[in-house]
Amino acid sequence: MAVRTMEELVSLCKKRGFVFQSSEIYGGLRGVYDLGPLGVELKKNIRNAWWRSLVYERDDIEGVECSHLSHRLVWKHSGHEDTFSDPLIECKTCHSRMRQDKMKDETKCDTCGSSDLTDPKKFLLMMKTNIGPVDDGSSFAYLRPETAQGSYLNFENVLLSMGRKLPFGIAQHGKSFRNEITPKNFLFRLREFEQAEMQFFVPPETDIEWWEKWKNIRHQWWLEQGIPAGKLRFKDHEQLAHYAKCATDIEYEFPWGFDEIEGIHDRQDFDLGSHTKSQEDFKINAKVLPNKDSTTRMSYRDPFTGKEFIPFVIETAAGLDRAMIALINEAYTEEKLPNGKTRTVLKLKKHLAPIKVAVVPLAKNNPDIMMTGMKVRRVLSELGIGRVVFENSNNIGKAYRRHDEIGTPICVTVDFDTLEKENHPVTVRDRDTMEQVSVNIADIGKYVKKFYSRETPQQDVERLYQFSKMKEKGRE
Ligand code: GAP
Repeated sequence: MAVRTMEELVSLCKKRGFVFQSSEIYGGLRGVYDLGPLGVELKKNIRNAWWRSLVYERDDIEGVECSHLSHRLVWKHSGHEDTFSDPLIECKTCHSRMRQDKMKDETKCDTCGSSDLTDPKKFLLMMKTNIGPVDDGSSFAYLRPETAQGSYLNFENVLLSMGRKLPFGIAQHGKSFRNEITPKNFLFRLREFEQAEMQFFVPPETDIEWWEKWKNIRHQWWLEQGIPAGKLRFKDHEQLAHYAKCATDIEYEFPWGFDEIEGIHDRQDFDLGSHTKSQEDFKINAKVLPNKDSTTRMSYRDPFTGKEFIPFVIETAAGLDRAMIALINEAYTEEKLPNGKTRTVLKLKKHLAPIKVAVVPLAKNNPDIMMTGMKVRRVLSELGIGRVVFENSNNIGKAYRRHDEIGTPICVTVDFDTLEKENHPVTVRDRDTMEQVSVNIADIGKYVKKFYSRETPQQDVERLYQFSKMKEKGRE
């Protein structure tokens, strides 16, 4: 189940402490949001799941973290200075500014209906900031509109420092900035947002094969985060970005319909070729600007053939803010209970839940129960599973309801039985089934650790299988 309207989603995110409007008390900044206590945990968990699947669970991808500010020439040679713009139209009557390609009717203002409109102008989406003590109009840098360029600029550094061979990838997550003309749909189109992008460098003739592979790997990842297959679809780009040979979006069905959450692009040799000096030494497939500014060649020498060439790039580019709203939306569930009441549950996958365990001591006025509860909390905090909270409410029903609503997978209750009974049992209550099991206090760490342990990833299962086959063959 999901929320019914966008307004419901926004209100849920605010009320439960996921997302707040930035600079709210001064009227807010359009297209800019702050994350609250639960939002910051959720986003961290999504980011970690992404990083784990690409960097920790594979042997062919390295991670980097590049600066938000970058040299103007980066964006000249990446093509962004020339092409990263939207067609802007202004209404001469009410002064609303609109993206021409997103207007309901190109002859009338979306806000007041006037036909007195300016001609479309190219509006650069990159944001500038002044750098250094002199503000003479030339000493500026761009805030990056994508993380990808930082990964391209470090291609050679990573290749050499990590002793890599093709194919290999560079993953990076972090903030990107775009001066969107019409930020909209809550966290969907922002001016400041977080991307999770991976650039996979391959021999040119293998690009399509890798593009297909990455489409499937990324689609599978979204399924593993809890989005059902029926709510996802691929949509090939009809209009390609300046760098792309082919591109597809993974779209999710938001409350307003299917829209992009990730792009899988075959950027061919556009970016590495653009940032390369002596471009004439190579056969560059993409249309690139001549480059007299670069100090290096972004090339690769095949260790077997000795041939030097510019690798092709397959990019997977996801947005973590869009992921947040998709996953909250998908997890939101209202259930009818046998007593006729309705229960609201946020059925996030447990690895994404902002709070992993709530320890609930009953009763608040009993120091022995409180001390035992604190000890349980300590043991669970040290498991490294994420945030564990000591729930200081005296009302167990309220505590369970609140934790159902924010998606806490388990609550551990400490009560008089814990003090008095043999083996000092605590009660573990499951968010989804509402079942309660009794666990001896000495075993609670082991129990929770097992609850949060992960299955062996499919690719490792496959590799282990291949190795075992090899071993069998060796014995024959
Ligand atoms: N490096 C390629 C690139 O930036 P993109 O399709 O423009 O490609 C990739 O962006 C992802 O970043 C999108 O699929 C989306 O999830 C996210 N994204 C892009 N613009 C955004 C915006 N204004 N607000 C929120 N997320 C955005």
